[in-house]
Amino acid sequence: MSTELPSNKTIFSGIQPSGVLHIGNYLGAIQQWIALQDANDAIFCIVDEHAITVPYDPKTLPDRVLDVAATYIAAGIDPEKSIMFIQSHVSAHTELAWLLSTIAPYGNMSRMTQFKEKSKKLSSKDAISLALFSYPVLMAADILLYGTHVVPVGEDQKQHIELTRLLAERFNAQFGETFTIPEPYISQTSARIMSLADATKKMSKSDAEKSYIALTDSPSVIRKKIASAVTDTDTAFSFAKSGPAVKNLLAIYKAFSGKEEQEIEKEFEKKTYKEFKTALADTIIASLEPFQKKYNDIRSEDTELRLILGKGMHRAQGIANATLHQAKKNMGLI
Ligand code: AMP
Ligand code: TRP
Repeated sequence: MSTELPSNKTIFSGIQPSGVLHIGNYLGAIQQWIALQDANDAIFCIVDEHAITVPYDPKTLPDRVLDVAATYIAAGIDPEKSIMFIQSHVSAHTELAWLLSTIAPYGNMSRMTQFKEKSKKLSSKDAISLALFSYPVLMAADILLYGTHVVPVGEDQKQHIELTRLLAERFNAQFGETFTIPEPYISQTSARIMSLADATKKMSKSDAEKSYIALTDSPSVIRKKIASAVTDTDTAFSFAKSGPAVKNLLAIYKAFSGKEEQEIEKEFEKKTYKEFKTALADTIIASLEPFQKKYNDIRSEDTELRLILGKGMHRAQGIANATLHQAKKNMGLI
């Protein structure tokens, strides 16, 4: 993976509207999107059809979708420049997913770690759907419909992008050159932000609230969560030598403060965990303040947001339908 920022490429990524977004989503994914959107053609999707692969509440889903859309804009996605749309508004996604599933090897599909993890979390075997199993094929369709070169995601999505590449290569070999082969783009420092309650697990919105910091958490909640975050037994602030819990907190501090590692190590050399945590909470609160203000403004009035999503849908449909048409033709469907 190259460390250089890509330019003049097509970028595609998406987030599921399955709960509040947290600082892991921001640092692992959205922050990279913002950095990429100016020099590239970027497309950002709210992947609602992925969110319905596990049990969910249809009454709250519409709000969750608008929450994610508002998060994109408040975080800095420019809807005038980048395309922003809702996955279920472009039917080419599910249609291409079916076509790709005809060449998806069952063996590879059975090795998807996210499927295994998500199925384990479900209460009964009956709740594990076929859609949860075939989810990576839908993700491949999302990416391949847009001639995507680069997919900025967190580390946990690497395996899905590997599968997307395999499906594209197979399809091209079998039916003729149709799809661009995409590359993952994974941030070096915040690819995997860990849980505040257990530093061996990634920060996840499906775990207990104290384990993550939501982008919409109030300052007092942020202070409380950081104060109760687990630390390691010895007090050393070192990016190389600290235990996993402190390393994680240091990584979060680095990402939000923009400071260099050495500078941070020096800053806290003689400080206690308590002092470090106060500085960390202050930094997160200050960084999120402008985001939260913008988010609340956008979310209080949906008309503008719906207009943006409608425009995004039309632009996305134009690109996706052309690719789908070509794929069907190459497969011999008339
Ligand atoms: P999800 O919330 O699973 O839909 O993830 C949305 C995006 O955020 C994906 O690109 C994930 O890889 C990224 N992401 C989720 N959790 C984390 C985390 N703890 N650390 C870094 N990136 C994450
Ligand atoms: N599977 C991704 C996640 O859980 C979300 C996603 C769906 C996605 N389709 C995508 C990410 C296409 C990047 C590109 O985070």
